[in-house]
Amino acid sequence: MSTPRVGEEEDEERHRQRKLEEALEVKSLRRIVSAYLNYPDASEEDVKRYERSYKKLPPTHKALLSHYPLKFQRLRWCISRNAYFIFNMLQAFEPPLDMSQDVHIFEDSHLQNSPNDHFFVGERNACSLQSTSTSGSLCFTKNDQACSGEGGNVICKSPNGANNNEEMEIEGHNEAITTRHPPGLHPPGFKYNEEIDKYGGNDVTDSNGKGNVSSSFQEWLDPSFQLNVPLVDVDKVRCIIRNIVRDWAAEGKKERDQCYKPILEELNALFPNREKDSPPSCLVPGAGLGRLALEISCRGFICQGNEFSYHMMICSSFILNQTQTAGEWTIYPWIHSNCNSLSDGDQLRPVSIPDIHPASAGITEGFSMCGGDFVEVYSDPSQVGVWDVVVTCFFIDTAHNIIEYIEIISKILKDGGVWINMGPLLYHFADMYGQDEMSIELSLEDLKRVALQYGFQFEKENTIETTYATNPRSMMQNRYFAAFWTMRKKSAAREEHSTS
Ligand SMILES: C[S@@+](CC[C@H](N)C(=O)[O-])C[C@H]1O[C@@H](n2cnc3c(N)ncnc32)[C@H](O)[C@@H]1O
Repeated sequence: MSTPRVGEEEDEERHRQRKLEEALEVKSLRRIVSAYLNYPDASEEDVKRYERSYKKLPPTHKALLSHYPLKFQRLRWCISRNAYFIFNMLQAFEPPLDMSQDVHIFEDSHLQNSPNDHFFVGERNACSLQSTSTSGSLCFTKNDQACSGEGGNVICKSPNGANNNEEMEIEGHNEAITTRHPPGLHPPGFKYNEEIDKYGGNDVTDSNGKGNVSSSFQEWLDPSFQLNVPLVDVDKVRCIIRNIVRDWAAEGKKERDQCYKPILEELNALFPNREKDSPPSCLVPGAGLGRLALEISCRGFICQGNEFSYHMMICSSFILNQTQTAGEWTIYPWIHSNCNSLSDGDQLRPVSIPDIHPASAGITEGFSMCGGDFVEVYSDPSQVGVWDVVVTCFFIDTAHNIIEYIEIISKILKDGGVWINMGPLLYHFADMYGQDEMSIELSLEDLKRVALQYGFQFEKENTIETTYATNPRSMMQNRYFAAFWTMRKKSAAREEHSTS
């Protein structure tokens, strides 16, 4: 038997490493999909808990709340509607990896635990999100047809623009053949039943009378692929549902006006003469569910959103690419909290989404969403001096090391390019009890000093009062006094001049 040569051993090692990373990624994705699939069961448990408390009441007290059993049924109905939306979203999702591969073969590996399992604190950070990729940039591949460019307008690609199968064009609004949910194809825990429907007092169809469930069942949605996930994972799903209101509902407009409007106005003022044949380029790291990136694109910028959470990417991809019309879906985002409600009606109110039809919004060619960790993706040498603008909204405090973020933003901007920021400094890795996560928590004053060292000059600075993914009818409204600034990266020529 011949012994493998050094080169072959290296190749084998690299292959093994790639396989490990892929298995880890599949596992991470399956965990996320499982969190979505566990949503109805976990929510049902909550309702059962409310029922148990209600049953413990003495009869006289119970009599005062005789409407409660009906409320519980209504809650169940709302949960089933949210689950219906979620299931449609998952059905439309084309995983970038083979989800059916055996991920347990690497169980002993040091890579078995998902990295980047971030725990956000505070109201806006009540969720922890897993990264889309363990290995830098990763983009969703949809299907060959989508790459043909037919009707396609939202692109997800690796930022270096490489034309490989990691780069994809997601359909804009191609007519998907949709049917009602076929019998027997319900995902685990997906409960829709007529009994519940009766109490909901609505039809099972969405506001436009459509039930867009794809008739082909995704194999990886089969219960055998579902993982048992901790309840905290299901909280992430609830967090996404709230974020949908922020980005894609009429109810979220006030918050969008507080956060996104000042950014859009600043972009308008800084780039008054945007040329159609050479639009300025804009990167939005931590793009969330994509609304800000879409709005920037609609204003004549070549815009790329970057996002590392699969939870977010699955949802934004669905809304951006699969929505057929405004108001296509109805969700019940506020049902999961009984606290600070003015009325049951408020808590159970429906919200229709999206408030606009993204594919008809007038995006500029080149709009894309890029999945991956900002640090890994944009520290690539191909990114140096590429962008006219970087827009960060509620993003910079997600860093382990905020100085690294500032350094990368400075590097990827063109000379004379601008960085517009809006958000607080609620460091996501601060106070992670028991977990020794690196977290550099600069004050605003220190942050500004650091930015100067990376060649930034302040052009504008103020404070903006805003909420984040807050129920506008809640008795509790956390407010941020967020920092807003525009900094310009000094051009090399000017810098030389000033130091000579
Ligand atoms: C607080 S949310 C803000 C989302 C959006 N900008 C908005 O204003 O609604 C922060 C977002 O950044 C994403 N994120 C956190 N760390 C990231 C990283 N290293 N690379 C890319 N995205 C990241 C999170 O997944 C989350 O969607």
